[in-house]
Amino acid sequence: MIDTLTIKTTKAGHSRLAETDYTDLPFGKVFTDHMFVADYEDGEWKNFEILPYGPIPMSPAISALHYGQAIFEGLKAYKQADGGVSVFRADKNFARFNKSATRMAMANIPEEVFMQGIAALIDIDKAWVPAEENYSLYLRPVMFATDPVLGVRPSSTYKFVILANPSAPYYSKPLKVKIETHYTRSAEGGVGAAKTAGNYSRAMLPTVEAQAEGFDQLIWTDAKEHKYLEESGAANLMFVINGKIVTPEVRETILDGVTRDTIILLAKSMGTEVEERRVSIQEVLDNIENGSLTEAFAVGTAATVTQISELTYEGKTYQLTDPATRTVSTGIAKKLNDIRYGITADEFGWNWSI
Ligand code: PLP
Ligand code: COI
Repeated sequence: MIDTLTIKTTKAGHSRLAETDYTDLPFGKVFTDHMFVADYEDGEWKNFEILPYGPIPMSPAISALHYGQAIFEGLKAYKQADGGVSVFRADKNFARFNKSATRMAMANIPEEVFMQGIAALIDIDKAWVPAEENYSLYLRPVMFATDPVLGVRPSSTYKFVILANPSAPYYSKPLKVKIETHYTRSAEGGVGAAKTAGNYSRAMLPTVEAQAEGFDQLIWTDAKEHKYLEESGAANLMFVINGKIVTPEVRETILDGVTRDTIILLAKSMGTEVEERRVSIQEVLDNIENGSLTEAFAVGTAATVTQISELTYEGKTYQLTDPATRTVSTGIAKKLNDIRYGITADEFGWNWSI
C-alpha cells in the first residue's frame, strides 16, 4: 500500500529556462528551477517539499562531510515521441538506493518518497525535459547524514534531495582507456556495490593521473590480483567475443548497473548470447590479438553506451576495431533508445509515464 505524500510547494519566482542554452549542456552543470527535499528525523521521513533549486543551510559539523555517509542515484527522464515524459526503470534505482543506504548504515527511504518526489519534481519542471536527440533530464537523488556531531557513528538524521539536470550525453566520443593495476576502487568486503560518495572521491586521483597520461578513463581491476576486469569509472563494461556479449559478473566489488541489466535483457531478446562471468585481462588481450574481440563498450545511465576504441595495459596499447563497424552494441543501443524515447513498444514495461 503506497500512501500519497503531502508535498508543500514553493515555486521559483523566476524561471531560468528561457535563458538556458540547450545547445551547450555539459553534463551536471545546469539544474532546473526546483528540487525535492525531505528530512529523516525521530525515526521517520517528513517535511516533503518542492523548493526553488538553491543552497541548503547546514552545519559544517554534519557527518556526511566528515565521514562520508552519503549515497546517490542517477536515472533519466526522456521526452516521448508523443510529447509526454517517461522515467526509465526508476524501480531499479529505488531498490539500489536502499541497498546503498543499508550498506552505509543509513535510514532507508520509503518507495512513495522516492517515487512521488521524482514525479512532483518532473511535474513542476516538465518544460525542462530536452527534446533533442540523445538528450534527457538526468535525475539525481542524493541522501546525506545531517547529525552535527563529530562522533563516528551512524547519523540519526538525514536529508534526501532530488535534483534535475537537463543533459547532453556524458561522453561524446569513443574512449581510450587504461587498465589500472596499481590503484583499486573496491575490494571484497568493501563498499564497491554501494553508490556512495567515497567510491567516487577515491577514484579521482587515479583518473586525473590517467588523464594526464592521455587516457579518457580507467578500467578497474580486482584488488587481490589485478587480473580481472571489473568496471570503468562510472559505467559497467561489455565486450563482444566470438559474437557473444561477455560482461564481468556482478559481485560485491562492482556496482550492479541498471543499464547493464537492461542491455543483457535486450541482447537476449534480440538473440545475442550473453555470458556474465569473471573476465580476465589476459582473455581480453588474447582475443584482441586473434581478432575474436570485435567490440568493447561501457554502459551506464550517464554514459549510455559508449564505445571503447583503445585499451592500454602495462604501457602497451591495443587498438580495437573501428567503432563505426560495431553492429552488436549499436543495434542494442538503438533499440534501447527507441524504447526510452517511446519510439518503439516498451515490451518490458520499463517506462514510467509522468
Ligand atoms: N558503475 C559505476 C561505478 C557507476 O557510477 C555507474 C553509474 O551509475 C555504473 C556502473 C552504471 O550503472 P547504471 O547503469 O545503473 O547507471
Ligand atoms: C550515472 O550514470 O548515473 C552516474 O552516476 C555517473 C556519474 C557518477 C557521473
